[in-house]
Amino acid sequence: MEKGSLLYTGKAKNVYTTDQTGILWVEYTNQATALNGKRKEQITNKGQLNSAISDLLFKYLTQQGIVNHYVEQISPVVQLVKQVTILPIEVVVRNYAAGHFVTKYNAPEMKHLVPSVHEFYFKDDALDDPFMNDEQIMALDIATEAELVTMRSEANRVNKLLSDIFKKIGITLIDFKLEFGYTAEQQLILADELSPDNMRLIDDVTGDSLDKDVFRKNLGDVTVGYQIVLDRLQKLFTEK
Ligand code: C5P
Repeated sequence: MEKGSLLYTGKAKNVYTTDQTGILWVEYTNQATALNGKRKEQITNKGQLNSAISDLLFKYLTQQGIVNHYVEQISPVVQLVKQVTILPIEVVVRNYAAGHFVTKYNAPEMKHLVPSVHEFYFKDDALDDPFMNDEQIMALDIATEAELVTMRSEANRVNKLLSDIFKKIGITLIDFKLEFGYTAEQQLILADELSPDNMRLIDDVTGDSLDKDVFRKNLGDVTVGYQIVLDRLQKLFTEK
């Protein structure tokens, strides 16, 4: 597989074409951002940890029947994925109150949310990714009702699978963000990455954050928690 030209530079990933039609080359970088990209830092080893965690989680979801863009990891920071056209919507699922759910609604920190809360955000850096309800999304032709139904139900399935897997390794999945995209065959599938950059994870014993909140809140070296997540996932999947 040959790396082609740069297609897209993200906040923590660079995406390239390859010599194979329909397959993209994704390089995880060490960049950490907060405040929608306004704060940026390089963090040694972060790319490698996110890539390894995302690799394990996508492989697990694939085994469990969640159709997604993931193909394989070909080096510590490089993954191959199926090319999809990403819908400009971020799907956030929340099991416990944290982050913007606390600041926006004055919700008690870590309140167990029953039912789990689904939120859609319009992916637009210039607008700071605003929250949108279903009607706003449909009326502005950003997505159809059928697409919203698919994304909600897939997000529910992913939530159940990931919450269960993390529970087995002593971690609570507080919330996470997913993105979806269309394949050339017009199938809307799960895409992007699955890492502690995109989810909040709390250690059940220590109560420590094992995710990007450590960077957002300046609590120390973010990679310590990422390494714990990776080590426990690796142990779980090798024991199976
Ligand atoms: O900031 P907020 O509380 O809305 O984030 C909810 C969840 O979505 C967190 O796990 C966060 O890491 C993730 N998220 C993300 N990318 C964004 C916004 C939120 O991965 N642009």
